[in-house]
Parts: sequence; structure tokens; C-alpha cells
Amino acid sequence: MTTLYHHQHGGAHLNHVTQDGRAVLDFSINISPISPPIGSLLLENFSLQSYPSIDGRGIKDYYKGKFGMDGSMVLPLNGAIEGIYLLPRALGLRRMLLLSPSFYEYERAGRSVGAEITFLPLVAENGFQLPSIELLAEALQHADAFVAANPNNPTGTEVPPEIIMALASRFPEKWFILDEAFIQFTPAFPDNSLMPQVMALKNVIVVHSLTKFYALPGLRLGAIIAHPTLIQRLLHYKEPWTVNAIAESIAPLLLEFGAYEDEVRTMIFSERERITALLSQIEGIKIAGGAANFFLAQWNGGSPLYVLLSWLAERQLHVRDCRNFPGLEDNYFRFAIRQPLENDRLLSALRSALLASSDPSKISPLPENFSPESSK
Ligand SMILES: Cc1ncc(COP(=O)(O)O)c(C=O)c1O
Repeated sequence: MTTLYHHQHGGAHLNHVTQDGRAVLDFSINISPISPPIGSLLLENFSLQSYPSIDGRGIKDYYKGKFGMDGSMVLPLNGAIEGIYLLPRALGLRRMLLLSPSFYEYERAGRSVGAEITFLPLVAENGFQLPSIELLAEALQHADAFVAANPNNPTGTEVPPEIIMALASRFPEKWFILDEAFIQFTPAFPDNSLMPQVMALKNVIVVHSLTKFYALPGLRLGAIIAHPTLIQRLLHYKEPWTVNAIAESIAPLLLEFGAYEDEVRTMIFSERERITALLSQIEGIKIAGGAANFFLAQWNGGSPLYVLLSWLAERQLHVRDCRNFPGLEDNYFRFAIRQPLENDRLLSALRSALLASSDPSKISPLPENFSPESSK
């Protein structure tokens, strides 16, 4: 059977198990390695017998409490993905400029409304960094919107906010849509967020997600942050009641979890440094990005990537095969930063895979078309 969602990402199979029932440690899903203590609070706070608010008011409360955003600047969403699809439709985008490789949904959302898509390549030679402002300005001549993630997925590289602000001032007739789904994992947050700029720069739009940082992919929570006149315009196109009662009641509770936020950030920052240092000593694995809670890595262990993936799968470890991203065909994979002992398991398996690849008899290769279940 063919599936419409052939691009489905690794997170679709959280907590999956091997055929013989062993739990797989999933590094392909790039959410926080720990969860906020929502627990029984959830049961006390919502009713399935009543409609939620028509406009996801609980999410507005979160953005007001956490980032000081007035409700008129916040469009609550059923996950950031709803905003990614709403914007090209509501703004009538015809020509979108995207980075490549990047999150596939920007392209799909654009194509779904017939927009023409142009890609600005990010290249391995400079660590997949954003091209110069001159190159961006040149490419923008032919576009009506620039859509990018800061940090970008899957490269884990940053989009400097000052570059976006300079371009947004220079091209007031073009839209600058920044996806900040992973921004709370960056050390520079909140200074690197464009949320506070949307009142001054009416053509800057931030799409934010609560999925990654609070490890809540099942709940579907996010928002567009933009100038109130734009929020009003978007409301004409958006379906009502897309934020359900459970999601709406959880969002304001997240304001209570300051200690959790500190713990996540501290863990990610220290593990990011530790992993970078350890992998820099290992020949055969080259990492890029790392601004967020995941790394893009290239396997240079002398065998095709599927050999590494099968080696990891035998050890119940799963990473995101990135060979289906343009520019990452050459043995790239992505792995999330998890808790220290879990990261140790992956690091030690990578090390042993390299040793084994110098003695191929230790490996039983799977067929070339081997594809672990969640690497769609
Ligand atoms: C860059 C980026 N933006 C947005 C999303 C989707 O976020 P949400 O789960 O809030 O819809 C993802 C999910 O993988 C992502 O990688």
C-alpha cells in the first residue's frame, strides 16, 4: 500500500520496539530528552464534555506569561505544522525561497498552493552555514517569501536574527517566515528570537512550537507570533477550534515548569559539548551544526550508511537516515542529544561500528535498500 505521507519523519514511532519486543532507543526524534512533570495536573484541568475556546486561548496565556506577547500578536496552532501550511495559503505566496536541506514541510506547504519553490543550498564545505547576506538578497529578488528554521533542521545550524532583520528592512514587501521550533535549546535564547521584533517589522513572522522543548509531540501545541494586523488577516483563513481541550489546558501549565526548563537546557548544553569533544577524537564520523538538541553527522567509516544503521539497529539504537534530503545523500544521519547514559550507548556503538568496519567479517550487512521502520 502506498502512503500519502511518504516524508513522515522519525518521530512517528516514539517508543517503538524491535520485532522480538526489545525497546529501541530512538535518537531520530529530536525532542527534549526529559519531560515536564505534568502528571495528574492534566486530569484536573480539562473537560471533554465542553468545547475548547474557539481560538486556543490557553496557548495565548502561555505566550503572554512566558514571553510577554500580547494576545493580539499570537495565533494559537495545532502544532507549528498548522502555521507552516496556513501561511502560504493565507498570504497567497507565489514564489518561496527555502534553504536546502531543510524541513520538508515548507516545500510541501508551498507546493500545495501552487507556489514556485527556489532553494538556496547549504553546503558541507562551510559546515552548512547560511550563505552571505549578498547572496540571500540576490536570491530574494525572485521570491515573495523566505522561509527558514532557526536553528535549521536537519543541519542544526543557526540563522542569525540580525541578517533577517536587515533583509526584512531592505525588502518590506517580502515576507520573512522564521520557524523557531528548536530555539529554546540554543544557548543564545531568548536574545536570538525574532518574536520581540514583529511589532517593528510587520513582514517578519515567527512560527513557534511547544512540541520539541517540552517533549509533547502528541499534544500538538504551537503558535504564530506576528503583528496584530497580520494575525487578523490569518484568522480569515484559519479553521476555528483546531486547538483541542487537552492541549489548551496544558499550555498555561507549562508556565510552572521553570525548573524543568533549566534542567533541559543545562543537560543539552553539557551533553552537546561532551559529544562534540568525544566525536572530534573519532575518525570516521564528522559532525555539523549542533546549535539545537541534535547533530547532523556523516559516516565515513568505509562502508555504506546502511551497514552502520543495521549495526545500530542490532543494538536497539535508531538514528535518522538523512540520505533522502537533497545534499545529504552521502552517508548523512541525524541524532538527537538524549540523556548522558543514553548518549554513551550511542557513542560506544558508533565507536564499535568503526572498529568493526575495519574488519568487515564482524558485520552481517543488510541489503542496500535496508530502511529502519521510522526512517521515512
Ligand atoms: C523545523 C521544524 N518545525 C516544525 C516542526 C513541527 O512542529 P509541531 O510538532 O509543533 O507541528 C518540526 C517537526 O519535526 C520541525 O522539525
